[in-house]
Amino acid sequence: MAFKLDNVVPWGRNMKEYQLMFQLSDNDMLKKIASFGDGPACFNYEMTERNRDVTSFDLIYQFSKTDIEKRIEEVRITVMQQMRENMDNYVWKNIKNLDELENTRMSAMKKFLSDYEKGKAEGRYIFHELPNKLPYESDYFDIGLSSHFLLMYTQLGYDFHIMSMEEMLRVCKEIRVFPIVDLDAVKSNLAENVIDYFRKNFKVEIIKTGYEFQKGDNKLLIIKK
Ligand SMILES: C[S@@+](CC[C@H](N)C(=O)[O-])C[C@H]1O[C@@H](n2cnc3c(N)ncnc32)[C@H](O)[C@@H]1O
Repeated sequence: MAFKLDNVVPWGRNMKEYQLMFQLSDNDMLKKIASFGDGPACFNYEMTERNRDVTSFDLIYQFSKTDIEKRIEEVRITVMQQMRENMDNYVWKNIKNLDELENTRMSAMKKFLSDYEKGKAEGRYIFHELPNKLPYESDYFDIGLSSHFLLMYTQLGYDFHIMSMEEMLRVCKEIRVFPIVDLDAVKSNLAENVIDYFRKNFKVEIIKTGYEFQKGDNKLLIIKK
């Protein structure tokens, strides 16, 4: 079945948030980074502005700028309404209120949109669906990231997660996944089982970060070869 943009809720974060979530040191920021399920985040845009090396992968990069822009506008009101109804589930510290949240997200997604066509032409935004094989040799990237995608979308199932993370670990020397909870900010059996699977053959660390927006989603998973 063809993938439809109507099934996606595009909602993008910025470079400062990625640095906090993924505990990216100054040295990490100089490395060759791949970001999976990167959607309309502006991490790639802001890193490229600084002459850094980021390649983003996502299903939505098969669509045009106009289509993605339209979808962002469609979901904006619904998402903000849901946030308003569930304010107690969030930590209003780095982002202080709903207006600041909307401004931060919309500003990130506008930056992404302004960079999308140029970035696509330069091979920085690549249409790819995990867990499909990536066209890179082993260890091509230093660090692979997944923000608010893997482990969160538990409905995609155990096999999807194992196969996706194995492919990421083939092309990256290490991967970092944030957060490790599901969409309700609960650590799921799926996350436990997936993490246990990788403990057998890889070095696995779980680190508490300084980034917590949805209450309870403050832990980062690092898997190294
Ligand atoms: C909640 S968004 C996160 C966007 C971005 N990482 C951030 O944190 O700002 C999740 C993204 O995962 C992408 N996605 C979902 N399933 C995917 C798959 N099988 N392969 C690649 N990307 C996928 C969606 O298109 C969406 O852009």
